[in-house]
Amino acid sequence: MTHQNAHSPAATGDELKACCAAAYSSDVVALLLGDAYHPGGTALTRRLADGLRLAQDCRVLDVASGRGTTALLLADLHGVTVDGVDYSPANTALAQGAAAAAGLGDRAVFTTGDAEHLPYPDSVFDAVVCECALCTFPDKDQAAAEFSRVLRPGGRVGITDVTATPDRLPPELTGLAARIACIADARPPAEYAEILTAAGLRTIRTERHDAAMTRMIDQIEARLNLLRLTAASELSDGGVDLEAAPAVLAAARRAVADGVLGYALLIAEKSP
Ligand SMILES: C[S@@+](CC[C@H](N)C(=O)[O-])C[C@H]1O[C@@H](n2cnc3c(N)ncnc32)[C@H](O)[C@@H]1O
Repeated sequence: MTHQNAHSPAATGDELKACCAAAYSSDVVALLLGDAYHPGGTALTRRLADGLRLAQDCRVLDVASGRGTTALLLADLHGVTVDGVDYSPANTALAQGAAAAAGLGDRAVFTTGDAEHLPYPDSVFDAVVCECALCTFPDKDQAAAEFSRVLRPGGRVGITDVTATPDRLPPELTGLAARIACIADARPPAEYAEILTAAGLRTIRTERHDAAMTRMIDQIEARLNLLRLTAASELSDGGVDLEAAPAVLAAARRAVADGVLGYALLIAEKSP
């Protein structure tokens, strides 16, 4: 079974990945989102890590590692060795710099690469994490197959991601911008579990964290309101449509309240 979405825009897979990587490398996004580029922030990452049975000698892969927040938290709190891979060379460089600044350069290595073609051999990781990114991958089945391939038997995958019922999303949340904002190609939790199952990964825990999504929408709105007073031209140059933003944020908040949009945590295991 493939998991194509009727709302997918006509852009090719490579174009979508490049657009997403460019957007999440921009300073405007850093201003709007802060350190962790996902709802729930580092608190949810800690909860995810609790489900992964991490020990100090574990080797962990963070897929779509962004600026390194998740990987560095895991290396720092759990003493593990972490590889991070991200499509954006700018994010890879920033993450490696952050690792050095935190004194974790010997246990955290960041590489530019594609989640659908991971640049690692088979069965080398004890755990794989992926936060707020599976929703953006054009070929989710292929990415899940790659998670499974690089994971050792008995290893665990931890995912936090945007959830959506695609057919019920309002028009404001289905275009290319919404796709890059992790919404337009997000799936319901059960469909993520199905994608993982098809890759040989059995889901052992699913949790909903929809309130984290609302908090992120509130945060973006508050920061936009502040920045529109002080940095309107930087926002427009960075691709933020200040006119459209209030309606999009209101539609997103309504969609969460209606149960159409949310955020979820999944833990899955590769059979031993
Ligand atoms: C919403 S951010 C999440 C970053 C990080 N996981 C976090 O939670 O802070 C999405 C990230 O996915 C990366 N990305 C998008 N498509 C990718 C792909 N095909 N392979 C690897 N990384 C990808 C982007 O460059 C961006 O850094």
